[in-house]
Parts: sequence; structure tokens; C-alpha cells
Amino acid sequence: MTDIKGSVALVTGASRGIGKALVQALYERGAAKVYATARNPKSIGHPDAVPLALEVTDQQSVAAAAIAAPDVTILINNAGISLGASFLDSPLDDIRREFEINFFGPLLTTRAFAPILERNGGGHILNMHSVLSWVTLPGVEAYSASKAALWSQTNGLRLALRPRGIGVTGLHVGYVDTDMTAGIDAPKVSPQHVAQVALDGIEADAPEVLADELTRQVKAGLSADITALYPQLAAGA
Ligand SMILES: NC(=O)c1ccc[n+]([C@@H]2O[C@H](COP(=O)([O-])OP(=O)(O)OC[C@H]3O[C@@H](n4cnc5c(N)ncnc54)[C@H](OP(=O)(O)O)[C@@H]3O)[C@@H](O)[C@H]2O)c1
Repeated sequence: MTDIKGSVALVTGASRGIGKALVQALYERGAAKVYATARNPKSIGHPDAVPLALEVTDQQSVAAAAIAAPDVTILINNAGISLGASFLDSPLDDIRREFEINFFGPLLTTRAFAPILERNGGGHILNMHSVLSWVTLPGVEAYSASKAALWSQTNGLRLALRPRGIGVTGLHVGYVDTDMTAGIDAPKVSPQHVAQVALDGIEADAPEVLADELTRQVKAGLSADITALYPQLAAGA
């Protein structure tokens, strides 16, 4: 069990969107300190947060953050990117970039901070997945693949870190009302809602958090025939 009250948290990608809402929610629940990390720390607006520079794809930047934040007990791997890359038509560099940020970024920070969490008595890591870890759509195929790979990374880390006293939560969510989905016209949940269920998941040591109805429906569809998630494959469709 990891209490938010009195914890020291580090949030990646805290400049805006879900990361910014997480920083606010952590303080509302009584966190003692929140390192709000960003590529540009000047973009952190919360008056109590400790701004910290962090580019998640840069090993030196991650190592410097780990030196600057030796008291962390909760790591939230939130930073992510969607370039709208498709497998067949987009530049390969875009696909690689999505994997660098969405898969290797959380891996670098987890490798740097797991020993810190352990030294501080255990603690918790939350990785921000997506409903697209479980289903793909045209135009977000590479993002989807990077989030599926992150889901698998989380599953592996959960087993590896449990004996070291570190809990690991994977959060899946559909559309959230942030810059990332600005061009998408669909029902969206708020970043504040995602932040609340993320912190509930950490406090409950939940392995998995499903943050909205779309995600619950897609997860249910995984055990059905493949046409449940991809109706365009049904005979006669
Ligand atoms: N919005 C959705 O519908 C949705 C749905 C499911 C999952 N998610 C996931 O939730 C997380 C947050 O998404 P969001 O909607 O809040 O996105 P957002 O508003 O676009 O914010 C993304 C955040 O990630 C940071 N970031 C991007 N690349 C980075 C890098 N290389 N190093 C460090 N920070 C970096 C950005 O920093 P800058 O300000 O410096 O760019 C920003 O703070 C992401 O992992 C996303 O994949 C989002």
C-alpha cells in the first residue's frame, strides 16, 4: 500500500494535460513534495511543485533527474507523444520517435528510479498506457504499437519489482481532453478524472486501472472473436 499523503512523487510530462492534472491532484491528496518534470521546467505553473528538467529519451537527463530527486517514493511515467504515424506511409523516424518516447522513455526512468524507490522503502510506479494498447485504428498504428509494447513492459516490470517492494500500476484510457486529442471529435474524459483514478489505483496497489467506459468495452472485446474489435473483418462487411 502506498499512501499519497506524505509521499514524494515525480511526474513526467507535467507541463500540461494529464501530467499537470496529476501534479494538482497529488498536492490535493497531501503529497509532501511533487517533482513536476518537463523538457522546459519554466512550463511548470504549480506554485508548490518542484520543477525539474527531464527529457525522457535522454539517458543523461534521466540520470541528472535521479540525482536531483533522491527522495522519490512514487514515479508516474506520464510523458507521451502521438505523431499520427501509420506503418506503411509515415517516415520510419516518426515511428521510432513514438517508441523512443512512449516505450524507451518510461524504461529509462524506471531503471533510474527503481533503486531510489527501493532505498526509500518500496513505493510505486504508474505507467500511462492507452485503450490503444489493446486495439488499433488507422492513423495511430505506431502509437498503438508503442503503447502495446509499454503495456507488456509494465507487465514484466510488475513481476520483477514486486519482490523489491515496488508496486506497478498500468493505466488504460480512451480519449482525454488534452492537446493530444485537440483535433478529435469524440467523447472525452477530463484530465482531472484520469488523475483521480490514477491516484486511486496507486493507493489501492491496483495492477491495472481502466479509466473510462470505452476502455472497459475494449478490454471485454479482447476475449471475443477478433471481429468484435475489428468489425470491418467480419464476413460480408
Ligand atoms: N489524451 C489522450 O486521449 C490520451 C489517451 C490515452 C493515453 N494518453 C497518454 O497519457 C499521457 C499524457 O498525455 P496528454 O494527453 O496529457 O498529452 P499532452 O497534453 O500532449 O502532453 C504530453 C506531455 O508529455 C511531454 N513530453 C512529450 N515528449 C516528451 C519527452 N521526450 N520528454 C519529456 N516529456 C515529454 C510533453 O511535454 P512538452 O510540453 O515539453 O511537449 C507534455 O507534458 C501520454 O503518455 C499519452 O500517450 C493520452
